[in-house]
Amino acid sequence: MNIITCIAPVNIAVIKYWGKRDEKLILPLNDSVSATLSIKEMHAKTTVMASPNFKEDKIWLNGKEETFQNQRLQSCLQEIRRRAKQKADNKGDSISNWSIHVCSENNFPTAAGLASSAAGYACLVFALAQLYDVSGDISGIARQGSGSACRSLYGGFVRWHQGSALDGSDSIATQVAPESHWPEMRILVLVVSDKRKKVSSSAGMQNSVNTSELLKYRVSHCVPQRTEAIVKAIINKDFDTFADITMKDSNQFHAVCLDTFPPNVYMNDTSHAIVNLIHSYNTASEKNKVTYTFDAGPNACLYLLQSEVPKLLAVLNHIFPAGNESVEYLQGIPVEKQAVSQEF
Ligand code: DP6
Repeated sequence: MNIITCIAPVNIAVIKYWGKRDEKLILPLNDSVSATLSIKEMHAKTTVMASPNFKEDKIWLNGKEETFQNQRLQSCLQEIRRRAKQKADNKGDSISNWSIHVCSENNFPTAAGLASSAAGYACLVFALAQLYDVSGDISGIARQGSGSACRSLYGGFVRWHQGSALDGSDSIATQVAPESHWPEMRILVLVVSDKRKKVSSSAGMQNSVNTSELLKYRVSHCVPQRTEAIVKAIINKDFDTFADITMKDSNQFHAVCLDTFPPNVYMNDTSHAIVNLIHSYNTASEKNKVTYTFDAGPNACLYLLQSEVPKLLAVLNHIFPAGNESVEYLQGIPVEKQAVSQEF
């Protein structure tokens, strides 16, 4: 039996991916940019086993068996096995005919708008690549599991290039800057709700592609400029500009969700209270000190520099005092070195 266990972290986008041009290959309408979180805090842990004694491929997610007859799982597994077979002398070749068993769990709420599928598929694809001894870029494979997963394969700041090839071969993730480039950066995740979201990102973005006029404008007129500008801000460690673009992109993404018909409402009153608080906090200084971004859920991800963490936490504790169940803090998460690690 061959067995391998890996851990992969979550990533939080500052330029959002929202909308596909190819549903099956998971090709996006626009580039996106994210930071990968510390592996210590929020991660997926996946064990893959291959054995000649296994009768069929099986998967357990957070302890519950799920079907393997799922297009996305199949795409990832088939592509990894295809690459393993390409290498004649590959140890993966001998085991690529065996069935596999997969066990995966997240140490944070699943499907609550906290990028659980990103960490999950990044971890699965990384683990399979180790098992089958597949080398080279595997972000294009993780992308076929869940688009945002391709960004979790790299640490630090990461860009997913939309690409233009019909087969998706150039729709891959690359690192913009390693975590060591901006070591003062911190991410604070405010868990407003750990309930599963009503409309998944996949279904929500498909509805947006079909019905939102604002999405077309966003893709053609806003995201390309914003992407270049935020990459520049990251390289120059210009927090003020980084913060400005991050908040605007999050707000525009949620505006697109509201422009979708019927609308998708992901943020709630607590989310909006956090937005107002951050704007008040920032206007007390000349430059932005904190920035917020919300994925397809009500939970806030705040980016800030380490020097600001104690002050902001004091303010948050004052506004959302302990015992108030509307906000639960996960600790500040430094963007750490290793994106994906192999346990043994
Ligand atoms: C709002 O990657 O979960 O988090 O490709 O359909 O699996 P699929 O969608 P997914 O969408 C993530 C959307 C987002 C923005 C982002 O992470 O860029």
